[in-house]
Amino acid sequence: MLEACGVEVSYAGAVRALRGVTADVGPGQVVAVLGGNGAGKSTLLRAICGSLPMHGGKVTAGTIRFAGHDLVGRSAAEVVGLGVVHVPEGRRIFGRLTVEENLRAGGLSVRSRRERLRARERVYELFPVLAERRDQRAVLLSGGEQQMLAIGRGLMSSPRLLLLDEPSLGLAPRVVSQIAEVIRQINAMGVAVVLVEQNAAMALGVADHGYVLELGRIVTWGPAAELAASDEIVRSYLAVGAGQAATAPPAAPGAAGPGEGAPVARAVPPAGRTLARWQPPPRRRRWPLGRGGSPPPAESPDSGSAPVPPATAGARMGVGERG
Ligand SMILES: Nc1ncnc2c1ncn2[C@@H]1O[C@H](COP(=O)(O)OP(=O)(O)OP(=O)(O)O)[C@@H](O)[C@H]1O
Ligand SMILES: [Mg+2]
Repeated sequence: MLEACGVEVSYAGAVRALRGVTADVGPGQVVAVLGGNGAGKSTLLRAICGSLPMHGGKVTAGTIRFAGHDLVGRSAAEVVGLGVVHVPEGRRIFGRLTVEENLRAGGLSVRSRRERLRARERVYELFPVLAERRDQRAVLLSGGEQQMLAIGRGLMSSPRLLLLDEPSLGLAPRVVSQIAEVIRQINAMGVAVVLVEQNAAMALGVADHGYVLELGRIVTWGPAAELAASDEIVRSYLAVGAGQAATAPPAAPGAAGPGEGAPVARAVPPAGRTLARWQPPPRRRRWPLGRGGSPPPAESPDSGSAPVPPATAGARMGVGERG
C-alpha cells in the first residue's frame, strides 16, 4: 500500500535527516516507527505527506509510492487527496474555534456534504467526549481531548492511511491507553496507520510491525511482538531510567507506556546487539526480526484509486505545544 524505498531527506540542503530509508505499510496494517529524539521519525512522516517544503526540507533520493501513486514532489493537499492524512506532533488544533468547527475545517475539501456529515458522525461515535463538547472552544479541552480532536479532524477526510506523530506525547498513562484503543478502533475501520512514537510500549502494543530509526537510518525492524520481546528493544526503548518503575512490554492491549507519556529512557545504548540479521524472506505478511541493511520488500502493491478528496492537513493556529 505504502512503499518507501531508499528515501533520503535533507533540510536546508545541509542536515541529512533520513538516509536510505526503506519501509512499507500493507493495507490495514498498523506500523510503529520508534526512535529517540532527532532520529528522523517526524521527517519520515513529512516526506510521506508532502509537508517537507513547509519545513525547509526536501526528498533528495528514493521513492515513496502509495496505492500506485508516486508521492515525492506532490503537494500536501494532493497527498491528502490520495487518502493519506498526517496528524502532526503537537496536536495543532484551532483553539479559538469550537470542537465542531475544528472538525468542519478537517472536512473542508470533501465535496460531498453527505460524506462530510457521515464522517463527522463517525468521529463523534469514536470520540463521544467530542460530541458532548461540540460547542466548546477547543482551547478548553484537556490535552487528551485535544489529541482526540486532532485525530478526529484527520479522520474527516476518510483517509486510507493515517500518519500519527507522537499522539501519546505528554499524556497521562490512562489517556495513553485510550489513545491506543482509539488507534485500534480506527484500524478496525480499515484505515492503515503509521504510528510514530517514543512510547515504544504503547506503539508495539498496537502495531503489527515496527521500524526503529537511529540517526536517520532504519536499524531494526520486525513484527511488533518480536520487537517488544527482543533484548535490544527492551534495553533501549522499553527499559526506564534509574529511579523510575519499570514498564512491562506491551503485552496487554491498551497498556500504557511509561509514566505521563514521557519519552522512554534509553537506559543502555544500543551496543552489543543481539538481534538476528534479517534474511530476505519470501513475500509474506510476518517477517523475522531484522536490523541494518535493507528492510523487507513491500507487500503486494495496491493500485486502488484514492477515495474521497482531502481535508486540511495540519493547521497552523495550534494551541497544543509539544512537550
Ligand atoms: N525544519 C528543520 N530544519 C532543519 N533541521 C531539521 C528540521 N526538522 C528536523 N531537523 C533535523 O532533522 C533530524 C531529524 O529530526 P526529526 O524531527 O525528524 O526527528 P524526530 O525523530 O521526530 O525527533 P523527536 O522525537 O524529537 O520529535 C534532526 O537532526 C533535526 O534536528
Ligand atoms: Mg518528531
